[in-house]
Amino acid sequence: MHKAAVQNLDRPQDDEFLADVLYGLSQTQKQLPPKYFYDQKGSEYFDEICELSEYYPYRTELTMLRDVARDLGNHFAGLAPQGLEIVEFGAGSLRKVGALLTSLGNVRSFTAIDISEEHLINSCRLLESQYRELSIHPCVHDFTKPLTIHTSDRTRLGFFPGSTIGNFNPGEASEFLHNAGATLGTNSYLLIGVDTKKPEPILRQAYNDNKGITAKFNKNVLERINRELDGNFNPIHFAHHAFYNEPEGRIEMHLRSLKEQTIKIAGHNFEFHRGESIHTENSYKYSPDEFTSLAQESGWSKQHLWLDSDELFAVYLLQYVH
Ligand SMILES: C[S@@+](CC[C@H](N)C(=O)[O-])C[C@H]1O[C@@H](n2cnc3c(N)ncnc32)[C@H](O)[C@@H]1O
Repeated sequence: MHKAAVQNLDRPQDDEFLADVLYGLSQTQKQLPPKYFYDQKGSEYFDEICELSEYYPYRTELTMLRDVARDLGNHFAGLAPQGLEIVEFGAGSLRKVGALLTSLGNVRSFTAIDISEEHLINSCRLLESQYRELSIHPCVHDFTKPLTIHTSDRTRLGFFPGSTIGNFNPGEASEFLHNAGATLGTNSYLLIGVDTKKPEPILRQAYNDNKGITAKFNKNVLERINRELDGNFNPIHFAHHAFYNEPEGRIEMHLRSLKEQTIKIAGHNFEFHRGESIHTENSYKYSPDEFTSLAQESGWSKQHLWLDSDELFAVYLLQYVH
């Protein structure tokens, strides 16, 4: 994979980052889009979160994927005469796709889409050293925006692990699923990992780890604003706050101001009262019925559902029937 092979399609530019920050911090409930967590530092913090004992989604899904991949091998036997093409959304460190590449055997091409450019390129280089025959296409793109990829006569399998879909509200999730269908094409498949509803203490602990890594990940967005947009946040004057909002069925992450303060970003002033927060991320949890309905309303029909024995996490195989 050469540098020239990296597709830079719709990477947010500094002016978009600035516009989103100025807009978000001007709202009554201050907010920032979660995609801005993921610069190189944020991607490294996310990898650390995945190693935490409290963070069950990563290891549960990773363990499930061995069985899922074996079942998929049976499902696609005879269904993909030209071989398979996998397109992963929010690819991150690419630690999950290996199970599919190994078990499916006939994957000819792999496109990895992520917003975090340096991390994506490094992850693709590592994957390339492990799967030398595979044609790997890193694609720096904001997946909240439509994407057209090359035409192909191979059977397409989209892959969206990590319950990243939970960062969208249900309306945005439906829009993402419609766009993913348009990108992948009619009769394509999508293998998607989705976090389930479960007792509140398990959820709360997963986003409030003892080592404080999730807090560092959350505060990284302030440091990124300082680095890239000439901001003057002092992260020690903000506290990580994550809780389960049961009526909405979502974990909310916030950064709460520990004092009255004025923050300057690119010449703009923002006042914070003591206790006022910036809402930085949602992580929606779906029961199987809720997610199956959402997928159906968005043009996808459920082919398979895998749940682990404790029903902590769900993996769905969907087919685009639009
Ligand atoms: C929760 S992590 C999941 C990583 C990996 N797929 C996994 O399952 O462990 C979300 C990933 O999506 C990427 N991401 C977040 N928002 C994005 C966006 N708007 N467009 C493209 N990638 C995005 C992040 O850089 C990160 O790699």
